[in-house]
Amino acid sequence: MDAVAPVNAARRTVAILENVPIATDTYRLRINDPVMARAIRPGQFLMVKPASGTDPLLARPFALYEVVRDDSGVPVAVDLVYVVIGRGTSCLSRLRPGDLVTTWGPLGNGFGAAPGGAVIFVAGGIGQTPFLSLGRWWLGQSDYGGVRHSTGSVDSATLLYGVRTAGLAAGVADFERAGIAVELATDDGSVGHQGYVTDLLARRLESGERPSRIVGCGPPAMLSVLSRLVEKFNLPCDLSMENHMACGFGACFSCVAPIRQADGSSDLRRVCVEGPIFSSRDVVWTGSGH
Ligand SMILES: Cc1cc2nc3c(=O)[nH]c(=O)nc-3n(C[C@H](O)[C@H](O)[C@H](O)COP(=O)(O)OP(=O)(O)OC[C@H]3O[C@@H](n4cnc5c(N)ncnc54)[C@H](O)[C@@H]3O)c2cc1C
Ligand code: FES
Repeated sequence: MDAVAPVNAARRTVAILENVPIATDTYRLRINDPVMARAIRPGQFLMVKPASGTDPLLARPFALYEVVRDDSGVPVAVDLVYVVIGRGTSCLSRLRPGDLVTTWGPLGNGFGAAPGGAVIFVAGGIGQTPFLSLGRWWLGQSDYGGVRHSTGSVDSATLLYGVRTAGLAAGVADFERAGIAVELATDDGSVGHQGYVTDLLARRLESGERPSRIVGCGPPAMLSVLSRLVEKFNLPCDLSMENHMACGFGACFSCVAPIRQADGSSDLRRVCVEGPIFSSRDVVWTGSGH
């Protein structure tokens, strides 16, 4: 995996511009943070918490969804998409335009250079969030962090997107507008294939499709199945890991995952600084997940 080195991560208090529902329990949060917008690259993340009060005490990590640009293309704001899970995301969902949040980032390694050919993104649940900007970056449509891939670096991008039920599918129109084909899977069959999102990938690989790169993001059980599938077909695959994080910058070790080392042994590595993007070949899975 050809990961991009992290850039400076600064802490700022910035205002919310929008916080709008886009799917069941799912919101798009627009943050007025031009400094972050100019620096952040696909696959990187930021820590976010309400600026006032101590509830929650700890900020929560969120991947870049998209950089918002003004009419002349200058990055001015950052969009995140989040699903309400517990205390931190419930607090975020109550924030209104003008309210302040504390952010730090960009954090993590982010994705590397465009691999060429056709790429497939495999997302489970809210794991689709890194793929809008990544698709647009690799398709050569936009620069991120001052880096632009040439148009046609990637011929096509497809998102295989699995959710429990149709109402949870968030941002499908955003992907389609960006020229990223979307194929859905749901647990209850309310839209698309009824079953696992990895079934959609297995079907394509079994019929002879050979993408230049597969990228996955979602729950550990899904990433573990995906890793076994790509290993069987000997295809390159990156995973964006979403381990629990307390600090986001390497100080607390709450986010460690077992990662294979060059000598074949495995060692615990901090997902927030050495990831969140790892080659699927390097992630060691125990049981159905970590
Ligand atoms: C690098 C990174 C990028 C992320 N990007 C996004 C994103 O773009 N959009 C988004 O909605 N979420 C994203 N997440 C996950 C998000 O950070 C968690 O959903 C959030 O921290 C939950 O906070 P909470 O206070 O609402 O829930 P909590 O009260 O902290 O937790 C509620 C329940 O959810 C479980 N839980 C919390 N976090 C996780 C997790 N990461 N994995 C599995 N179970 C968890 C807890 O064990 C608990 O059972 C990302 C995580 C990481 C590490
Ligand atoms: S979240 Fe603290 S070390 Fe990774």
